[in-house]
Amino acid sequence: MAREEIKEIDKSKIIYSWAVQGNEHIIIDHAERIYMWDIDGKRYIDFCAGLLNINIGHSHPYVLEAMRKQMEKLTYVSTLFGTEPKAKLTEMIGEITPGDLDYVFYTNGGAEANENAIKAARWYTGRHKVYAAWRGYHGATAGAITLTGDPRRWAAEPGIPGVVHYFGPFTFNSAFGSKDDEEECENALRALKEQIMLDGPKTIAAIFVEPIVGTNGIIVPPEGWLKGVREICDENGILMIADEVMTGWGRTGEWFGIDNWGVVPDMITTAKGLTSGYVPLGAMIWSKKIYDYFCEHPFVGGLTYGGHALACATGIANIETYKRENLIENSKENGTYLFKKLQELKDKHPSVGDVRGGKGLFCCIQLVENKETREPLAGFADARRNVSKEIMGRLFDKGLYLFAKWDYMFISPPLCITKEEIDEAVGIIDEVLEYPDSLTK
Ligand SMILES: Cc1ncc(COP(=O)(O)O)c(C=O)c1O
Repeated sequence: MAREEIKEIDKSKIIYSWAVQGNEHIIIDHAERIYMWDIDGKRYIDFCAGLLNINIGHSHPYVLEAMRKQMEKLTYVSTLFGTEPKAKLTEMIGEITPGDLDYVFYTNGGAEANENAIKAARWYTGRHKVYAAWRGYHGATAGAITLTGDPRRWAAEPGIPGVVHYFGPFTFNSAFGSKDDEEECENALRALKEQIMLDGPKTIAAIFVEPIVGTNGIIVPPEGWLKGVREICDENGILMIADEVMTGWGRTGEWFGIDNWGVVPDMITTAKGLTSGYVPLGAMIWSKKIYDYFCEHPFVGGLTYGGHALACATGIANIETYKRENLIENSKENGTYLFKKLQELKDKHPSVGDVRGGKGLFCCIQLVENKETREPLAGFADARRNVSKEIMGRLFDKGLYLFAKWDYMFISPPLCITKEEIDEAVGIIDEVLEYPDSLTK
């Protein structure tokens, strides 16, 4: 197909997510490790690992070979049958997850994992309410978008019944006026307890957490937060569900985000880095007590592509790659390096109000109009102005892709990135920050 024809069809007929239609897009032709090339031959650093999912990097030969081998044997079979890839992947997942989280239901992605977790939690507890954070994202299907606290939910309202939002800790823009992390943790836990008491603890099936909040600004929780939520759940017979769709698979320098705090949830939902996006695959992972319950009661849910043989083989090859190439350790080590480099940008640029992360290759720059007052540059849901479009455009011009939204610039490269490659990419960001700097007061 001629390049101009591809661009024309893309612009005029393809329906893009979360957007007004009819726009031009960069058309990617091929990709390798941390790089992508468009159909005009221009190279881009993928400094966001796609949508924070291509953890092992693009086009890894070991994974491609494992996929080819599996395709020649079996790509898909009815969900009524077992397969070796499904059994092997389940065993490998169980070895990595904390506690007795060994029981796996396979989905096509993260939202479906959360949909099924809502249902399973309701059936298991016999209660109907599910709690999720205001500053949180859990997917775009009916239940998952209702769990989502951020503005992506607004257009989907009223959503499913029984979802209740709470304020998680966020010291930089504290809803409680806290002066530091310790105070923010105390305040957020106190508010959550109070809310549960008023709402009726026996009506609440589950509390969802993103161990580190992802697309709402890479919010690393203060020390006692996740442990505190675990305690609140235990005291009230509520299930704790860790949404590890983004934080799983080494992104935070540990296999799972929750491992940074040694807390064991009752369920984990995950996707993204499970296959690094080579083919879609997600999972809902249960602890033994939940599995035991469903040995006596039916689990009334299923998906045509659940446990897809090719997807499971891709998951196995991904986990082997994480281990063979020490990618979890690399995420931790180079994540610390990246965080340090970004802190230098904070010192240098008036528009950089905060740099968050410090756990793995999972960072965010938060832009401000004024460093002293922390007045935002774009504002929540771009209430003041849109700066992210221009920022992304300028980065593209210089050969770098990262995802920017509102006041946030998300920096989460593939886990195989080197320090030299980080230096090059941060250098480009440094240059482009001149634009938001020009809008500061
Ligand atoms: C924390 C979290 N949960 C769920 C999802 C939804 O996953 P998916 O897009 O695979 O349905 C996402 C996607 O970004 C996410 O970040």
